[in-house]
Amino acid sequence: MNENNLKKKNLINFGPSGRAVAQPMDDSLLENFFEHLTMERFANVQYFSMYLWFQERDLNGFASHFLGESQGEMEHAKKFADYLIARGQRVKLDEIPSPVQAWDSIDDLISYSFNMEADLTSSLQQLYSISERFSDTRTNVFLDPIVEAQTKSEDEFANILGKVKFAANQPSAILLIDSDLKKK
Ligand SMILES: [Fe+2]
Repeated sequence: MNENNLKKKNLINFGPSGRAVAQPMDDSLLENFFEHLTMERFANVQYFSMYLWFQERDLNGFASHFLGESQGEMEHAKKFADYLIARGQRVKLDEIPSPVQAWDSIDDLISYSFNMEADLTSSLQQLYSISERFSDTRTNVFLDPIVEAQTKSEDEFANILGKVKFAANQPSAILLIDSDLKKK
């Protein structure tokens, strides 16, 4: 490597935020990042609203589980935003839809959560394939542990859904699941 070239300041790229950038990000990848960030922020608000729904019904185990999920989604949003900043980007925050607050049953609510997790996984897979297409290895490496954690989230919700379906709205069975979730 030519040492003189490394010393030339004018060889450095600067991103939209003014920070030094080693590899610029493709526009379509960036757009997908912003969309994914919105999904994580929506999940944060949606889970918070589910926390409230269970609190209102004195199902405190379910409530604390959803509060934890809500906080987890904010952590994910932060992780994505921090990554974009590390890549010299400016973080665009889009409007997030209002959360669903009315549910016919616990089964409905958990099914919705499972689908939301599955959508988040699809969005991650999309980010993954776009970054592969542009040889943005940094992004692939960043996404690897996130995809793994996301698969675990799907598994957790599938597990809760299985129990809730088995309980078939019987109060005593629901209370057992509730106290089980409290212990976690
Ligand atoms: Fe997430």
